[in-house]
Amino acid sequence: MTQPDDEPGPAGKTEPGVGPHPQPWPDDPRLDPELLAHGDRRNVVDEYRYWTVEAIVADLDLGRAPLHVAIENWGRDFNIGSVVRTANAFNVAAVHVIGRRRWNRRGAMVTDRYLQVVHHDDVDAFATWAGEHSLPMLGVDNIPGSVPLEGRALPRACVLLFGEESDGLTPAAQRACEAILHITQHGSTRSINAGAAAAVAMWAWAIQHT
Ligand SMILES: C[S@@+](CC[C@H](N)C(=O)[O-])C[C@H]1O[C@@H](n2cnc3c(N)ncnc32)[C@H](O)[C@@H]1O
Repeated sequence: MTQPDDEPGPAGKTEPGVGPHPQPWPDDPRLDPELLAHGDRRNVVDEYRYWTVEAIVADLDLGRAPLHVAIENWGRDFNIGSVVRTANAFNVAAVHVIGRRRWNRRGAMVTDRYLQVVHHDDVDAFATWAGEHSLPMLGVDNIPGSVPLEGRALPRACVLLFGEESDGLTPAAQRACEAILHITQHGSTRSINAGAAAAVAMWAWAIQHT
């Protein structure tokens, strides 16, 4: 890469990404002529600089984890975007949104372009889907009866299901899970936010399986 990672922007601020690619351009069908010509300011790892979205998705598809992440969405939880972004960082198989179809995309920072986000009407529909794909469902919440995530062996192919910021996992979701795992806390707050919990849980899965 001959371009610097950061170049001064119009206001004298440093813009992320890389500028136009010097000529001659590499002969590579994965590269996007628009990005080569104008620079690539996207939040992508250096390996994918100037690649088309389609080429990045195809490459990610080759190495997706067999981990699925699901979150209940009854009130358009603002955490879903953050969950999607982290799910992209861990290259999970898919994110499943249960309940309302619409979700607040802001926190995703367009990472939803790089993975499947699948909608399911309710927990029953999702549980049926998970059963058809032989995926055990593990709830993640700190509720009576939950067991520590720390030290727990997680299945390689599975679903981690998260609840909403306001109420946590619904009773239907709790019933559908074969276990509910909590992240042990040591302070005074009742819980961490769902986006943070999802990041911890995905990392816990990743250190066992990657
Ligand atoms: C803000 S919590 C709300 C519910 C929580 N059970 C309570 O009593 O306050 C929202 C979601 O974040 C996740 N979460 C937050 N803290 C957690 C923890 N310590 N362990 C596991 N999950 C947690 C769970 O998925 C939960 O459904």
